Amino acid sequence: MNAPTVVDSVAALRAQVQDWRRAGLRVAMVPTMGALHDGHISLVRIALEQADRCVVSIFVNPTQFAPTEDLDKYPRQLARDLDRLREAGAHLAFTPSVGEMYPAGFATKISVGGPSSGLETDFRPSFFDGVATVVAKLFLQAAPDFAVFGEKDYQQLCVVRQLCRDLDLPVEIVGAPTVRDAHGLAMSSRNAYLGEAELDVARLLNVILRRTAGALSTGTDEAAATEDAAKALISAGFRKVDYVAARASVTLAPWQRNRGGRLLAAAWLGTTRLIDNVEIPSA
Ligand code: PAF
Repeated sequence: MNAPTVVDSVAALRAQVQDWRRAGLRVAMVPTMGALHDGHISLVRIALEQADRCVVSIFVNPTQFAPTEDLDKYPRQLARDLDRLREAGAHLAFTPSVGEMYPAGFATKISVGGPSSGLETDFRPSFFDGVATVVAKLFLQAAPDFAVFGEKDYQQLCVVRQLCRDLDLPVEIVGAPTVRDAHGLAMSSRNAYLGEAELDVARLLNVILRRTAGALSTGTDEAAATEDAAKALISAGFRKVDYVAARASVTLAPWQRNRGGRLLAAAWLGTTRLIDNVEIPSA
């Protein structure tokens, strides 16, 4: 495969995508913060199944990190990322600087309601404002036909769908299944922070979530099931559980038994915060 073209300015990104669109090509976008793993590569593959050209943005977005979070230590490995994108067949990598995305005097924030309330927002109050603002900018800059987001960040996927619907952004959002290791651990750039012993504990997150989703679908009381799951996570070695919660799959409103549902969780392993989610099968 050819190496992707790398551009770091909005002008160069727009010029390339406009050329493709004039030629009648269908363009996909995969927004990322880099440190690409198999989960990201699966998004590129899904994009390429439905598009002629795939743009991958690599930008560690400062506005979605709280001052206490891991912006400085977030893994940055552009050369390796570009190798992975070449293998996957992506056509363009957009690697803007912070100044290109947020020039001096930048003063706009997009705040999405609906699915952004609760869950992550209870613990990271400005996270989705940062995500929505940067995703809206990326869509306006690249103007892709569609964009692919992983279900691993399930609440983010719902928020981005709401953003596009509410602002009439002409970008179709494609959700892609979570890629997991052989033990079911969801791929995440933050897994790089975990040592071997912590990885063994991390792998229990999806086991406990699947077990709890099964219990919910067979009639176990919701409060009892989610409380048991939180206790099981602590017994397994997690330091703190931010939430284990059952929600409606599209709106993320409280879950109603016998309706499509999603069980979502966030928990701390040492200083690393992991999130995951599974479907609640209908009974
Ligand atoms: O999921 C991510 O990596 C980020 O939140 C995103 C969507 C690229 C926005 O910075």
